[in-house]
Amino acid sequence: MNNDIDITNIRGIVHDLKTPITSIIGFIELLKINTHDQKTTQEFYDIIASESNRLLKMVNDILYASKNSTSGSIEKNKDICNINVEIHKYIKSLSPLAEKSSVSISLNTSSGNVYVSMPEIKVARILTNIIENAIKYNKEKGKVFIDIQDESDQVVVKIKDTGIGISQDEIDKIFNRYYRAKNSQRLGIEGSGLGLAIAKDIVESYNGNIKVHSYPGESTEFIITFPSAQVKI
Ligand SMILES: Nc1ncnc2c1ncn2[C@@H]1O[C@H](COP(=O)(O)OP(=O)(O)OP(=O)(O)O)[C@@H](O)[C@H]1O
Ligand SMILES: [Mg+2]
Repeated sequence: MNNDIDITNIRGIVHDLKTPITSIIGFIELLKINTHDQKTTQEFYDIIASESNRLLKMVNDILYASKNSTSGSIEKNKDICNINVEIHKYIKSLSPLAEKSSVSISLNTSSGNVYVSMPEIKVARILTNIIENAIKYNKEKGKVFIDIQDESDQVVVKIKDTGIGISQDEIDKIFNRYYRAKNSQRLGIEGSGLGLAIAKDIVESYNGNIKVHSYPGESTEFIITFPSAQVKI
């Protein structure tokens, strides 16, 4: 049984590493075009630096976990995450992917801090995959709406897209490991069918949940509920 958990963790970890690496490659490709003004170029360098640091932090976390935990997983409830700060980083790191198909991302949230009771690395794992899905299963010039609501004991994040949608007979299967819906395979959109299975595993292990509604050909909305963290300043 322990073996199963380790294998899932390794897959999840490798999956996590993909997002910052893809982002770094994307911004280097943009820099190679060399038609950007100095401010934009500087911004790209800053993102490459911050994504490289994120990658380093993840590698350090993995090393820490492998030294300190017998199951190989990072300790639960050790950490909290200010989702209102981190969400901007996730959007920025996915912006090369969004720009490729002219998908716009809008964010609706309060101006204050919104803390959830989950380590940042795990919040990133969940939200970057769901936002990435909202971009890659979207249409050319589509939209992604992200809404964050801080309720008393939970934080609800809604991610809605104007994309290809998921048929009713497949919607319950998309959280199964390796499952990929027929329309996304037919359209040749790349993926391994692991992101949502990992996201669901993590969020449920922290007493949160993920729900999805979809209108095929029109839109899909994921609703993720995180447990709140009370922070005394
Ligand atoms: N927003 C969405 N709109 C339409 N289909 C979606 C959306 N999100 C997920 N899906 C469908 O659910 C499947 C599973 O998603 P999941 O994120 O687990 O895997 P993936 O995106 O294929 O690969 P990866 O492991 O790289 O995330 C996708 O292959 C796609 O068919
Ligand atoms: Mg995915």
